[in-house]
Amino acid sequence: MKKRGSVLEWTGLFHVSPADIADIVGGFHSEMKRGLAGEPSSLKMLPSFVAKPRGSETGRYLALDLGGTNLRILAVELEGEGRFRIPAVDKVVVPGERMRGKGEDLFDFLAECILAFAGKGGEGNREDLRLAFTFSFPTEQTRVDAGRLLVWTKGFTATGVEGEDVVDLLTRSLRRKGAGFVRIVALVNDTVGTLAAKAYTDRTCDMGVILGTGTNACYVEETARITKRRGLGAGGEMIVNLEWGNFALLRRTPFDADLDRDSPNPGSQLLEKMVSGLYLGELARRVIRALMNEGLLFDGSSRDLFTTPYAFGTEHLSAIASDDFGVLARFGIGNLMENDRILLTEICRAIVRRSARIAGAAVAAVAAWMDPELKRNHTVGIDGTLFECYPGYPAHIRGALADALGPRADRVRLEPAKDGSGIGAAVIAAVVGAQ
Ligand code: BGC
Repeated sequence: MKKRGSVLEWTGLFHVSPADIADIVGGFHSEMKRGLAGEPSSLKMLPSFVAKPRGSETGRYLALDLGGTNLRILAVELEGEGRFRIPAVDKVVVPGERMRGKGEDLFDFLAECILAFAGKGGEGNREDLRLAFTFSFPTEQTRVDAGRLLVWTKGFTATGVEGEDVVDLLTRSLRRKGAGFVRIVALVNDTVGTLAAKAYTDRTCDMGVILGTGTNACYVEETARITKRRGLGAGGEMIVNLEWGNFALLRRTPFDADLDRDSPNPGSQLLEKMVSGLYLGELARRVIRALMNEGLLFDGSSRDLFTTPYAFGTEHLSAIASDDFGVLARFGIGNLMENDRILLTEICRAIVRRSARIAGAAVAAVAAWMDPELKRNHTVGIDGTLFECYPGYPAHIRGALADALGPRADRVRLEPAKDGSGIGAAVIAAVVGAQ
């Protein structure tokens, strides 16, 4: 009995009630308003300098997509009428020393990868290659093809990049590596790419969301409401990158506070640290350690298990939440007592359920911001492994949408947009070409 009571006590820490959801929606609206007005806010509300595509855009582009440990390079051919082809694609792992070393080395590495791709015939015309650069970090843009990195997220710490124009840095590296024939025509956040890729084929798409290693969203805003920037043109629309990973008005547990304190960017990306794939396993590891210390798991034995930060990943969490305990072998755990299984499963599920419900509340907030009475249909293009792979994740988001919006939640459609960010960046480059 004691243990069963404890399960509820521990999982309850991660419960997101309908009242919490209402608070998140309210908090989003006040922070969005402040961010758009240029007042201090945990939501940066970054203008993208580009409107939603029409679906008629055409052209051939190279797309470079840097957002996490994987780098993707694609040749994209937009054929119009919402049709496109991807004649070639490369995926490269970004070595840890490039992510966390000198910025120049990171950008030289990107340039080398582009050159190698072009050399393999990934792209035809070497005289003038137009590159759409998906750079999935908070970037303050001044034009569609220029933008300063505000702060690294997701474990990147390469020096000399924060505060710099990343288009300039990549252009310099391209020249240094003898690839000056590549011209960067658009700088795009991955959420913006995801929205653009979905909107290219579906006119009702007005929101792009990433739920993967990191998390974030963008949406279509009226330029008149972006009061912090003058001269964006009256009566028009522009995609705005919320950088919602940094949203801070959330009820946190002591585990969240400790994880944040020990992270490379304390005090930043608080929502991301409760929601995204990079952190959920680590959060679970910390709870498991606490349960062990309380003598509630593994009978208080094996005290030296689960000691390595970030060794327990979201893939382990997914397995356990689906009752697959084999993954624990690498943590030195063989046979589990029934009570241990129940506690572990419930904790993992509670942590992921909380992630999805916070994400759902955030989606609801943005939809209600665009259309308070939800008179229209809104398609949300979503990419990222959490959404795609974690069992039951989309259903939890829908549950939160229903809590926030009631029956009108049906107006908000969640649509997978797998690997949309690279294709979408090419679409954005074409929108700009046509402007
Ligand atoms: C970044 C965002 C990005 C998101 C998803 C966050 O850490 O700050 O710019 O869109 O991750 O990749």
